[in-house]
Amino acid sequence: MQTRPSSHALPRAWLRKAFAIAALACTEAIATDPLSEYRRMLADDNPAELAVARGEELWKMPRGPKNASLAGCDLGKGPGVLSGAYAALPRHFADTGSVMDLESRLVHCMVTIQGLARAEVTAAPFSERGAAQTDLEVLTAYVAAQSRGATIRVPQQSQDELDSYARGRDLFFRRAGPYDFSCASCHGADGQRIRLQELPNLTRPEGARSAFAHWPAYRVSHGAVRTMQWRLSDCVRQERLPELLFGSPASIDLTMYLGVLASGATMDAPSLRR
Ligand code: HEC
Repeated sequence: MQTRPSSHALPRAWLRKAFAIAALACTEAIATDPLSEYRRMLADDNPAELAVARGEELWKMPRGPKNASLAGCDLGKGPGVLSGAYAALPRHFADTGSVMDLESRLVHCMVTIQGLARAEVTAAPFSERGAAQTDLEVLTAYVAAQSRGATIRVPQQSQDELDSYARGRDLFFRRAGPYDFSCASCHGADGQRIRLQELPNLTRPEGARSAFAHWPAYRVSHGAVRTMQWRLSDCVRQERLPELLFGSPASIDLTMYLGVLASGATMDAPSLRR
């Protein structure tokens, strides 16, 4: 009687190989999460550059009832000076007598220099998913890009800059809402996570520096550039608090708190985020 070759011989060897490949794939998956893989594939081609280019066009284009460009907009370093301006915002502005972040200052310039209506400019500051980026988003991306490599120096000189920081810090630690959350509930300790997302400790310079230096960011999961105002409003939504109004003093104070803590770090925005 002819014995058939063991029907297990081939599959066993094959299985061993398959396991080895699967094990390798697993270790690789752990070593390179999808975002770092995506980053590696894009190399220097951050899709945020498209928004930066569009923002540059808008910055230079005469628009609005006054048919003026934003070239005369003073972001704190003198009219039209963009280099390093974002790395030193929020700050006090003498012409408004208030502390402003980049996004609220851009609104101010669009209203005063171009004659656009404030309500119109601020009606929808963030783009819907899948829709074109808003003017404010691309302008923010463009101006932020002019601070790449600049050292973050958010000023603490005038009394209202000091007050803004103190209010921002206070807000960061104040618990409220149906869950009794503060920003610190999620961002107040090292190594915290929600599902797979790491929650940076924003009470320490390292966490605040990385956060401040990297926003605005091209958010891969949205396929769009998102700004610091968006980032904060989304976190306030996660706290189940009433909506954080665009450009509100609370939003600027929180940015001031993060910016002061981040001072000394190097700006690298728009970056790429999850
Ligand atoms: C319920 C938890 C939760 C609360 C409360 C919360 N956040 Fe967040 N925060 C997150 C999550 C989740 C992310 C995104 C992490 C990711 O995408 O990987 C995030 C990201 C951030 C980032 C960007 C960090 C970076 O390096 O990109 C900032 C800045 C931030 N939060 C600020 C705040 C502030 C200010 C508050 C309070 C107003 C707050 N968060 C409250 C969950 C929270």
